[in-house]
Amino acid sequence: MIPGICSSLLSRGRDTDGMSENEASMHTAFPSPPTVSPPRDKREGQRYPESSLYPLDLSTLSLTIEVTGAGHGIGKELAIGYASLGATVVCWDINEETNKQTMNEIKMMGKNAVYAYQCNVTDREEVFKVAGNVREEVGDVTILVNNAGAVCIKKLLDQSADEIVRIIDINLISHYWASDI
Ligand SMILES: NC(=O)c1ccc[n+]([C@@H]2O[C@H](COP(=O)([O-])OP(=O)(O)OC[C@H]3O[C@@H](n4cnc5c(N)ncnc54)[C@H](O)[C@@H]3O)[C@@H](O)[C@H]2O)c1
Repeated sequence: MIPGICSSLLSRGRDTDGMSENEASMHTAFPSPPTVSPPRDKREGQRYPESSLYPLDLSTLSLTIEVTGAGHGIGKELAIGYASLGATVVCWDINEETNKQTMNEIKMMGKNAVYAYQCNVTDREEVFKVAGNVREEVGDVTILVNNAGAVCIKKLLDQSADEIVRIIDINLISHYWASDI
């Protein structure tokens, strides 16, 4: 049985008096999770009250989460989501304007622990340089979400050599530079 579910079922269904020895020892080993409240939709600055099963509060964990490709799409939504949960968020994007826009939207939610850096994640030297700036100005990054990516909407045989290299650089090779910082 899954320990978390086991302890939760045990603690909800009955107390330890009626348990077998084995059940009682599991109950002790896996105590009920701490109470989590208030509900997310009652908390200020929450953009997605319905999007998570668990009302996390990342501010207590002092997390600094860096999201690449934060200027648009999934990266933007992740940056906003992490910030709304209380993490410090470092936004990276090749597009300075949209990246700053994400940062400003987060600030408008009353979350000021947000930073924007322009960076092309396929450029190894630039990644290392910007990472150094982040370390100096923000501190160590706890979690990196290297989300920046691109697609080429063409059949493989119709793609030029440059297009193929660009897509592989951003979707594959950038992970090596980003995870080496
Ligand atoms: N959207 C989907 O349905 C989908 C499905 C599967 C996987 N993905 C992956 O998820 C990731 C995000 O997808 P999306 O739809 O949000 O993309 P998107 O095109 O909406 O946003 C990508 C962001 O990455 C930035 N970016 C592009 N090249 C960059 C570079 N070299 N350096 C730094 N930033 C760069 C862009 O400026 C943009 O802000 C991608 O890696 C994509 O391959 C998306």
